[in-house]
Amino acid sequence: MTKLQQCTNLGDRISITWQDGLQDIFHAIWLRDNCHCQQCGDPAIGRRTLRLSDLDLAVTIQFLQLGEADQLEITWSDNHQGLFKYSWLRQHSYGDTPRKHPTYQYSLWSEDFRNNVPAFEFNEVMGSPEALFEVLRVVRDHGLCYLKQAPLQSGALETFARMIGYPQESNFGCLQDLVIDKGKRSIANDVTALKPHTDEPYRASPPGILMFHCIETDVTGAGESIFVDGFAAAEQLRAEDAEGFKAITTNNQPFRRYFEGDVDLSTSFPVISVDKNNYITGVRINDRVAAPVSVDSNQIPQYYRGMQILLRFTEDKTNWIKHKLSPGDIAIFDNHRILHGRTRLSLNARRWLQWLQIERGDFHSTLRILSDKLHKPRDDLPFSRGAYS
Ligand SMILES: [Fe+2]
Ligand SMILES: [Zn+2]
Repeated sequence: MTKLQQCTNLGDRISITWQDGLQDIFHAIWLRDNCHCQQCGDPAIGRRTLRLSDLDLAVTIQFLQLGEADQLEITWSDNHQGLFKYSWLRQHSYGDTPRKHPTYQYSLWSEDFRNNVPAFEFNEVMGSPEALFEVLRVVRDHGLCYLKQAPLQSGALETFARMIGYPQESNFGCLQDLVIDKGKRSIANDVTALKPHTDEPYRASPPGILMFHCIETDVTGAGESIFVDGFAAAEQLRAEDAEGFKAITTNNQPFRRYFEGDVDLSTSFPVISVDKNNYITGVRINDRVAAPVSVDSNQIPQYYRGMQILLRFTEDKTNWIKHKLSPGDIAIFDNHRILHGRTRLSLNARRWLQWLQIERGDFHSTLRILSDKLHKPRDDLPFSRGAYS
């Protein structure tokens, strides 16, 4: 642990110099707000009794003392006293350096990953927290993972999904059947090829983690599943056309799904979401449900050029993972990063998939709890937060 070298009280803030040379400022109001004495509660676990509305914004630090056991003792101008461990301060530093270097970094798909997507045995994952942890870690870091030898029964997918989170219900249902049925509303039930896309970008909160379970398929089936790394597509656009990347990350794309008298889902978000450090956090790539775009008129050319570069990448077969799901296979992927699609099915084919979705927050919660149980490094660092801004 990095040691504290010097600490100065500046009244409305303290300044700290750490032994590795890093400088930090902590404001008196921030420290007061984050006091975690017994009386104030614990802000680190979302359980505190201290209320911000009760604090004086002009609070200052009256006394500062380097206490025993590597902790700082503070007395504020409201006479309250608190203790802060140096390690806690360092961990929660909000200086430029830690804020600009989030520790979570996505790894784009390598050739090796595309050719060897990790596949775990269903029974092993159901019975072993270590194996389940690995499945979740692969989905977190690469966006896609397979299970194999799952029971060929309706509902097996739901049993698995409930170990990770709560299946989410939508206008399509909860556990959904994907069979060839032209009478259905969704194009997924037709036999046509589906270009790679992310699902339901017209929702304020699109499906998080999607799972497909293959129960039946036959030799005439055709219909290979396609997966593409949406983050790699976004990085390709950034490298190839900075202006196009900027137009797409700074303008909203409207999306809409409309069935008269029944459903009118409509929203507007960037096709590529980035955080303030310009790290990619999510994508909504589905031009089938894109509504007329409305951007600054002098950015239209860059916007369309950028979109085409993006789609050229996602439709380029050399960037695809093509995988024919066999009975017992499950594919798990992050719909805020990975595009999915399929090649054309044959008309007389028999094909039965079940699919469902769980929320990304539950997924990461389970991953953190498992990390603790298995004594792995915690996953409480910023993760890719999704296609939201
Ligand atoms: Fe889809
Ligand atoms: Zn306190």
